[in-house]
Amino acid sequence: MPSPSVSAPGVRQKTFCFRCIGCANLTETAQQDFRCAQCRDLLEIVYPAWKEGKPGPETLKSAWQARRLSSKPEDLSGVWRFRDLLPVVEPEQVISLREGNTPLYELSQCARIAGVPRLFAKHQGMNPTGSFKDTGMTVAATFAQRAGFKWVACASTGNTSASMAAYAARGGMRSLVLVPEGKISWSKLSQALDYGAVTCQLRTDFDGCLRLLQELVLRAPVYQLNSINPFRLEGQKTLAFELLEQMDWNPPDHIIVPGGNLGNSSAIGKALVEMRDLGLISRLPKLSVIQADGANALVRTIRETGGKKLVSVAPETRATAIRIGNPASWKKAAHVIEATGGACEQVSEVEIAQAKAEIGAEGIGCEPASAVTLAGLKMLVELGFVKPRETVVLVLTGNLLKDPDYTIEFHRGELLAEGDGARSLVPLRHAPIVLDATLDAVMRTLERSEKS
Ligand code: F0G
Repeated sequence: MPSPSVSAPGVRQKTFCFRCIGCANLTETAQQDFRCAQCRDLLEIVYPAWKEGKPGPETLKSAWQARRLSSKPEDLSGVWRFRDLLPVVEPEQVISLREGNTPLYELSQCARIAGVPRLFAKHQGMNPTGSFKDTGMTVAATFAQRAGFKWVACASTGNTSASMAAYAARGGMRSLVLVPEGKISWSKLSQALDYGAVTCQLRTDFDGCLRLLQELVLRAPVYQLNSINPFRLEGQKTLAFELLEQMDWNPPDHIIVPGGNLGNSSAIGKALVEMRDLGLISRLPKLSVIQADGANALVRTIRETGGKKLVSVAPETRATAIRIGNPASWKKAAHVIEATGGACEQVSEVEIAQAKAEIGAEGIGCEPASAVTLAGLKMLVELGFVKPRETVVLVLTGNLLKDPDYTIEFHRGELLAEGDGARSLVPLRHAPIVLDATLDAVMRTLERSEKS
């Protein structure tokens, strides 16, 4: 069966095009693998029209502000509200679950722990399916449907599949999910099932699933919704627009994100550079990427090759969302780290577990992969990269409820083997207490807890 090609849309077709990140070749259409036909590198979306008539910063800011008072579906979406900087679609074509519009919380206890004056969390786990993936999925699913696809597909560590399945269902498309068997949380798997995806648990890891998907999309008319798809990154860009709007357009000194397949860091970095070029902000925050030390392909790529050649790893971490050894967007991420002057570091399993408990203790909560950001911040402060007077934003990518097993095992002391520094976690644990159903037993527990 021939695959439809993914072309830039309709009447205002020229508003965006695809550019190869390797050879800079520009095209108006992309093949299904979203790779350059000449050099096979990844594509990104660019907007040549901005060169002729740049949208003015004040015009953009007031349009975005005004849309907050509107009740039109495209304005209620925290992604499409910023549509002036996205590929154009007609409003009635948008597949939306009212994604975006996520809160920016101040974390005062974590700030004290990390040693910075002001620390914020941009909580993408508050999206409709519980992760940042929804902001990209609304755009990419919309373009899948526009291009006439009946099927969408992804490889996933869980969140992409949950999000894709939801948006496909909303748009009346079928979805095919490839996940590594036994390596994703039940919560995420249950979402894909509930939203009606054909869900395949493959006996491999995420990288194996993604490799297979790449071959599949060249053979069958299914539209791939991994973050190799540049429409995904355009949607995920809006996190940065929304964040800066929430900060009254005063850029923080640092933004810290977890790194897995490296689409999100690439998207946020792209948005920061675009905002600077359009005059929306006067200076770039430093964008830093943190990985688990057992899944540290980008850290090694930068340290060992100066960001020139990917160093793949055999990934292992309890933060299963980022258990990835061969990240597709490594080149884009290395580029935005360099462009913004950010850093790339790795943190241990104990540091991730501790940071997650500390974020939870502020009443916020997140999934393990998100907690690498706080662990990474502590390290960046220690290294002197984050200075004591600087403002920092952590991007929390997933909701606490995405991986309840991790949290329960942590509190029961079953998550990590004793040793490896796990003893330091004991004061943070609150294991559930089984009691006889008597007032006396509960009173004694209350008194004991008051003293501890
Ligand atoms: N945090 C969470 C909660 C994630 O689910 C992911 C990626 C990341 C961070 C890393 O983001 O890949 O853009 O660098 N999850 C993908 C998935 C791979 O399939 O759900 P990234």
